[in-house]
Amino acid sequence: MPKFNVAIFASGEGSNAQNLWRVASKAGHPVRGLICDRQDAGVIKLAEQENIPHIVINKKDYLKKQSDFEAAILNQLIEWDVNWIFLAGFMTILSSHFLKMYFNSITQKFQVINIHPSLLPQYPGTKSYQQAYADKVNTHGVTVHYVDEGVDTGPIIEQQIFTRDIAWSFEEFVAFGKSIEHKLYEKVFLNFLNEHLE
Ligand code: GRF
Repeated sequence: MPKFNVAIFASGEGSNAQNLWRVASKAGHPVRGLICDRQDAGVIKLAEQENIPHIVINKKDYLKKQSDFEAAILNQLIEWDVNWIFLAGFMTILSSHFLKMYFNSITQKFQVINIHPSLLPQYPGTKSYQQAYADKVNTHGVTVHYVDEGVDTGPIIEQQIFTRDIAWSFEEFVAFGKSIEHKLYEKVFLNFLNEHLE
C-alpha cells in the first residue's frame, strides 16, 4: 500500500508551512504534523490556531547533542508514521545519520524536500534574499530540491524565476519572493501526492 505521510519541519514565521498544510488538507490528505525546533517560532501559533498536530523539540535543550535532538525527532516521526519530510524554513542542518533513515534505495534519494529562496546554486545559505537584493539582481527565483548531505546542494526538482521590480523595498522583494515560494511548493507537493498515492 503506497503511503505519503508527511511531516513539515519549520523554525520561523511559518508562511510556507501553513501554506503546505492547508494545501494538503484541501487535497484531502492532511499532513501528519509539524516539527519545530524553537519554542518562540511564529509557526507554532499558526499550528495551534489551525489544529495542526505539532511538537516543539527545542534545539536549545540539546546543546552539543545533535544525536539526541534527532532521536527525539525520529521518535515523533515514527509515532506519526511519517515517510516524507518537507522542510519549510527549518534552520537545523540534518545529519547524514538522520537522513539515512529516509533514504529510498530505489530512487537513491532521501525522502526529504526543501524550499530555498534563490535559483540554486546561486545564493545558498540563510541570507539569499538579503544578498540578492544587495546585488540589485534583475531576476531572482526559488528552488525546491531534494535534501542531501550538503547545504542547499541536493538534486533540483523545480525552479521558478521572477523579475525584481527596481522600485521594491527589501520587504516587498521578500514578500513577492515568498508568494512565488508558496505557489512552487504547492505545485511540487501536489505532484508528489499524486505520484505517490497512485
Ligand atoms: C523561506 O524563505 C524559505 O524559503 C527559507 O526560509 C524562509 C521561511 O519563511 N528556507 P517562512 O517561515 O515559511 O515564512
